[in-house]
Amino acid sequence: MNATELKTELTDKIEAANDLGALDNIRVEALGKKGRVTELMKSLGKMSPEERKTEGVALNKMKDEVAAKIEARQKILKKSVMDARLKTEKMDMTLDIRPERKGSIHPITQTMDEMIAIFADMGFSIHDGPDIEDDFHNFTALNFPPNHPAREMHDTFYLPDVVGKEGDEAKRLLRTHTSTCQIRAMLEHGAPLRKIVMGRTYRSDYDITHTPMFHQLEGMVIDTQTNMGHLKGCLKTFCEKFFGVEDLPVRFRPSFFPFTEPSAEMDIGCSRSKGALKIGAGDDWLEILGCGMVHPNVLKAVGIDPDVYQGFAFGMGIERVAMLKYGIPDLRTFFEGDTRWNAHYGHDPLNKPNLATGS
Ligand code: PHE
Repeated sequence: MNATELKTELTDKIEAANDLGALDNIRVEALGKKGRVTELMKSLGKMSPEERKTEGVALNKMKDEVAAKIEARQKILKKSVMDARLKTEKMDMTLDIRPERKGSIHPITQTMDEMIAIFADMGFSIHDGPDIEDDFHNFTALNFPPNHPAREMHDTFYLPDVVGKEGDEAKRLLRTHTSTCQIRAMLEHGAPLRKIVMGRTYRSDYDITHTPMFHQLEGMVIDTQTNMGHLKGCLKTFCEKFFGVEDLPVRFRPSFFPFTEPSAEMDIGCSRSKGALKIGAGDDWLEILGCGMVHPNVLKAVGIDPDVYQGFAFGMGIERVAMLKYGIPDLRTFFEGDTRWNAHYGHDPLNKPNLATGS
């Protein structure tokens, strides 16, 4: 059989192949080690040099054509296999989620997502740090003098000293506040800076408004002109968006934190009539967060020149604001994992907070 006849025969077979297995058999029969095209190529050896030249070109061309035909047929068959699968495995995307399988978003996660939506809109990005910290990041760099009573105020959980290290370097603890990340963010990024941090914090305390583990939101802005006016505007805007109240009354009371000067506590206006708390109206006040201008010593500790840069920082309990917003009376219940509590206070997973729909 010559090349032209073989090509016609193979082409017919390729066109007739109805599935990928049959097509592969034809490929082996034609182009395999002992295939018919391969055998024909071997016969070139017996030809005279002239014959070999013309026949060789023709045979190679024929071989390429057969290979291309197989490949084209393969594509068609693969597509029809896929089409058939798509028909049988069709999914009804309009089908509702089965209610008994529906999980919910924990109020802490929901509140954090809301905070991200609001602060991201104000140009903040997120920083993170470890729960297990050292004395430097939790206290020393934040201007807590050694043996200062403020260290005791934090009811710190200390961990066993690191083996092989001494003094401050050996001391490990569970961070008592997210202010550790002021230090971490400034060491990593320098100034100017606009960051928020959210995460777990730990203090040895347990009652209706305290749990040994709780969450904090920390924020900081460092720039050349940043002042208390910016702090007030930023935090008032945040609270208005977070609680969904326009023109929220706020007040700042002098306070003390070693790492801010001046320091303040911020209250928001509320009413408490007949045991019902209403945020935004009335003549009562509710403490919401701690804040202040970053102390020059803190800037110095991270190598930022306090004569050039200044800024503000703030910190608030995430559970605390979640309790106020969602009317959750007992902090301890956040971490009990009671599925009835989760179902009641949890949020729809498909309902992600964003500023367009209100948080
Ligand atoms: N770290 C403080 C606390 O846990 C809160 C705070 C943060 C105060 C930042 C001022 C500035 O109580």
